[in-house]
Amino acid sequence: MSDVHSFSRPDEISVRHLSLDLTVDFESHKLRGSATLDLERHAPASEVVLDTRDLTIRRVTLDDANEDVAFTLGEPDKFMGRSLTIPIGEDTKRIRVEYESSPEAAAVQWLSPEQTAGKKHPFLFTQSESILARSWVPCQDTPGVRMTYDATIRVPKDLLAVMSADNPTERSADGVYRFTMPQPIPSYLLALSVGDLGFRDLGGDCGVYAEQSVVDAAAWELADTPAMVEAAASIYGPYRWGRYDILVLPPSFPFGGMENPRLTFATPTILAGDRSLVALVAHELAHSWSGNLVTNATWNDFWLNEGFTVYFERRIMEKIRGRDYEEMLALLGMQDLEADVAELGADSPDTHLLLDLEGRDADDGMTKVAYEKGAFFLRLVEETVGREAFDRFLMDYFEQHAFQSMDTRGFVEWLKANLLDKHPGSEARIDLDAWIDGPGIPANAPRPRSDAFQKVEKELSRFESGTPAKELQTEGWSTHEWIHFVRHLPKATSLDRMAELDEAFGLSDTGNNEILCDWLMQAIQRGYEPAMPAVERFLTNQGRRKYLKPLYQALAATPEGLEKARAIYKKARPMYHSVSYGTIDGILGV
Ligand code: BES
Ligand code: ZN
Repeated sequence: MSDVHSFSRPDEISVRHLSLDLTVDFESHKLRGSATLDLERHAPASEVVLDTRDLTIRRVTLDDANEDVAFTLGEPDKFMGRSLTIPIGEDTKRIRVEYESSPEAAAVQWLSPEQTAGKKHPFLFTQSESILARSWVPCQDTPGVRMTYDATIRVPKDLLAVMSADNPTERSADGVYRFTMPQPIPSYLLALSVGDLGFRDLGGDCGVYAEQSVVDAAAWELADTPAMVEAAASIYGPYRWGRYDILVLPPSFPFGGMENPRLTFATPTILAGDRSLVALVAHELAHSWSGNLVTNATWNDFWLNEGFTVYFERRIMEKIRGRDYEEMLALLGMQDLEADVAELGADSPDTHLLLDLEGRDADDGMTKVAYEKGAFFLRLVEETVGREAFDRFLMDYFEQHAFQSMDTRGFVEWLKANLLDKHPGSEARIDLDAWIDGPGIPANAPRPRSDAFQKVEKELSRFESGTPAKELQTEGWSTHEWIHFVRHLPKATSLDRMAELDEAFGLSDTGNNEILCDWLMQAIQRGYEPAMPAVERFLTNQGRRKYLKPLYQALAATPEGLEKARAIYKKARPMYHSVSYGTIDGILGV
């Protein structure tokens, strides 16, 4: 179970508690203070090795001694940063590291007041997954180690600080906030955000934080959250983390969502005004079991986090919106998977569920393979043994492995012993090898069915045979029907007919970012110029990598497009988080 993305040696010594004391300095863009780590010994060792990246280490002391110890920093690695080796005594129980982060710390984004909705106060947030926690906290940055934590965070007086822990809902008088996280978590779930935040209670121990001017809209959009928690707990067992709150971040947040325990971080691009994009909340909530309670042991086992979570997200959506709704999500997921497998190559080892990321960035495993191939694998198991047996198995699996990590081989053994062996013939029908260690989409993959999408396809063929756009029967279509429609526009659609669609349905102006992204992709690929201002607006107004990456890639496919993309990027890059600009730099060669 050794983790190729960490310098640490948890087999010898593991960190079981972290105590942070940090001052948030918006002037110099630095976090400054100390991390105190409680050690647990498993084998004799005369040193502890931690992960760091771009940290300045001021001094290291042991236990209650005031004497500096001679630490060493290893050679920097592009993805892994630098090891921090600390000599310790036989009885050392605690180490204290005084340090500060770099203004360029990869996990941290510092927003100027102009980059926020309120325009008056600066804002900060962190994004630690996969291996970026080490850029703001020296730690054993591997998902195989869990620790509890507490933190004292000092911020400017008019701002609120929140973490992946128990959170305040009101400002403190002195700008000092104290946090505790009593459940042990892996380092990638460490999270902090500071800003002019407001809070709204949603009932059922759920709530929303967001910038003051966004918080009411966010609370309206996310009103289904308590029902989701209830639906989730009825399938996977009790919610083990106390409250479940959501922080809606400024638009530069690079992901759709991040499952920081007790406080999901979410993009504001899900605020569509009609609650149509809240499956994302079901997803991040589902991680409270798959990922946060039972954690992938290494990033090669990433599908154990994400595949389970997508499977579970769909089960939650089925419960609250019905099977037809869920099947639309599943079909769009299959389309995404087919596209990623085509891009990676049908024989690529990166299309196996169990990955080999040695020597590469841990985030290279973040493809639809982990998410969708993983989810369809679990759906196949469900359909093979029956839902009732599978649910009993899942409930027990999460119960038995709560607050532990799991690797792929361990899961497969557990699956065989506790489920498949009890259902003769099931293992042969599932063909574990083809899914876990084989490429592409196995032939026995489940095929979702959606009557709603068949109706969309009927309208697509009417459009293709000449029916004017405004005569198509689109009444009552949900976001997902629109996505299916836009993705499958006939190849031969002329620019005049693109304009006709745009006029009939206002696609370039839609406030639904999922539909918008797919529409703008079509516009770029077909050279539909009237949508170019919308492309530029979209790329400069938000920084979600899932939207940026395909659009910049599509633009970069022609020389004129590349030039245009670079011009837009020049303006937009300063608002993107490192996770996003790291990817786009590569696409545009800048
Ligand atoms: N845990 C992921 C985000 C992540 C993965 C960050 C790997 C860094 C490295 C999160 O749960 C996620 O999957 N977010 C998705 C949304 C979801 C609905 C598929 C996203 O951000 O698009
Ligand atoms: Zn996820």
